[in-house]
Amino acid sequence: MCGIVGCVRAGEAARLVLAGLRKLEYRGYDSAGIAVPAANAATGAGGGATSLRVVRRAGDVGGLVAEAKAAELSGDVAIAHTRWATHGAPTATNAHPHIDCRQRIAVAHNGVVENWRQLRDKLTDLGCKFRTDTDSEVIPHLIERLFAGDLAEATAEAMALIKGAAGVVVVSDLAPGQIVALRRSAPLLLAAERADRAGKESAPSRGIWTASDLAAVIDHAREVSYLEDGDVAVISADGWDIRNAGSTFGSVGGRARVTRPVKEVSRTMGEATKSGHDHFMIKEIHEQPETLRDVLRGRLTADGRVALGGMEPVDAALDRADRIVLTACGTSWHAALVGEYIIEELARIPVEVEYASEFRYRGPVLDRERTVVGAISQSGETADTLAALRLATSRGVPTFGIVNSVASSLARESGAGVYTRAGPEIGVASTKAFTSQVLALVLLGLRLAGRRGLDSERRQQWAEALTELPALAAEALAAEAEVKRIARRFAAAGNFLYLGRGPNFPIALEGALKLKEISYIHAEGYPAAEMKHGPIALIDEDMPAVFLATRDPVYSKVVMNLEEVRARGGRVVAVVSTGDRDLEDSTDALIEVPDTMPLLQPVINVIPLQLLAYHIAVMRGCDVDRPRNLAKSVTVE
Ligand code: G6P
Repeated sequence: MCGIVGCVRAGEAARLVLAGLRKLEYRGYDSAGIAVPAANAATGAGGGATSLRVVRRAGDVGGLVAEAKAAELSGDVAIAHTRWATHGAPTATNAHPHIDCRQRIAVAHNGVVENWRQLRDKLTDLGCKFRTDTDSEVIPHLIERLFAGDLAEATAEAMALIKGAAGVVVVSDLAPGQIVALRRSAPLLLAAERADRAGKESAPSRGIWTASDLAAVIDHAREVSYLEDGDVAVISADGWDIRNAGSTFGSVGGRARVTRPVKEVSRTMGEATKSGHDHFMIKEIHEQPETLRDVLRGRLTADGRVALGGMEPVDAALDRADRIVLTACGTSWHAALVGEYIIEELARIPVEVEYASEFRYRGPVLDRERTVVGAISQSGETADTLAALRLATSRGVPTFGIVNSVASSLARESGAGVYTRAGPEIGVASTKAFTSQVLALVLLGLRLAGRRGLDSERRQQWAEALTELPALAAEALAAEAEVKRIARRFAAAGNFLYLGRGPNFPIALEGALKLKEISYIHAEGYPAAEMKHGPIALIDEDMPAVFLATRDPVYSKVVMNLEEVRARGGRVVAVVSTGDRDLEDSTDALIEVPDTMPLLQPVINVIPLQLLAYHIAVMRGCDVDRPRNLAKSVTVE
């Protein structure tokens, strides 16, 4: 949530941060800004006119690029930010970077300053002039007050006064040639252009970056290093110096230099192009046969044995557990719900699914001997999910993560885990990451069941069904032309109902979420039978109901619910098993998908719902990859 990029490179920094910012737009895009200290500014804390240039705009990065070009911004050092507003409307004034009173210090911030009101009142009493409605503006003012010649020191001291998650980058013409980058909970990385050039000891670098994620630097950087909580880094043309100020921050003056592992950047780590598709979302929907294959690759034997080496640290805990808690947000929470059905049926272990934002604040009962907590996240950076994981860890409860983003905080902090291997997901509405999460949960369930004595015949059945699944996903995608026709018929509806039972109930929730996220149509997902206890009152010809009615043990029950809607004049779209014509007369439209095992059916059934949401949104002229008010990665609670 919010994207940050900073760069040190002679004469090129402004151009490079703007290019990086374009790649980060999926993190937030309601406003953007850039700050560039002039190359040969005077040092010292004294007065004098500022040589810090700042351009900010409401709207997307494209507008900022044009304005920065017109202003002929260039320099050796630059920072930039694309915003997802938390405090203050998305206007040019509220866009980052924010500046101090004398306009010498510029700060881009990702996170929330929880005690901003108190700090702002105090600073105002001291004579500070605030220009914006944001929480972040207190940071440059604090740094200004604390600055005594060392920008990193002043930034670390400012952080000691601030409560809340923060990834912060700072530039100033008082510290020419430098960027200070600091991490508390919100991710920040450092990157260097050439493999032999990171670190102070080596030859001068051509380009050194800091960014909130790898996408910003993937085109240039060859080495990457991730800051850890409490790290304060000083970045210059020579490389970077990191000191760790601990969780409370404060002075870094006396702290020893620390090193963080440096990894080589591989293209695939951040590769993200639309490859000829109109939007990332539709490209990602179509990648699913491949991403599902990737989840399984090397992890499943023909007789249904599952190898998940990353789970070994919690094997003993899972063997004695009588309860698994799965926690997540958004679409990942829906994957967890599907996981509940799968793990309970396969391994017979009770599973509870918790919104991370609720779990973290309600004092959950956790027996460290008998409970294991699993956190599920595409980004691995969702603030609430991370907090839920940390809560479990602090109570001594064994944890695991199901994570897509390899170098993320969740991946690093979980006691064990499974990577979902879906590759970078850029579309804000999650699609391929969801089906990969569900499949990772299937593997987990199968592995747990295997350890608890699943018989070889059932194991074999699962192995066959799983191996066949990617090809079935491709078949489901072949329904796109039909889905598009249906989208055209229903695109003007103001409300939608999505209904399913068993493991298809979470798919109803997910189908409704996809539609509302990107088309802004109100949609609700419901267990099909539960509909009688409320939503049925809403049924009329203006509220289509989408039923998940593939052949499974509750098929006849779902059909009953479908008839109930029909009897009240509702329009019905049904996702049915290929060749099933029984519902032709009682529906307005059918979408056929191939059959698989009932517990795997959700992976297939969600595909036409993703396509339906996508095509309706496109027909309504919505910005599919950048839906209003949303962000891909929610790093604030
Ligand atoms: C945001 C995204 C959703 C995502 C949710 C959880 O709301 O827009 O697509 O499902 O965060 O994100 P995570 O990265 O933890 O899976």
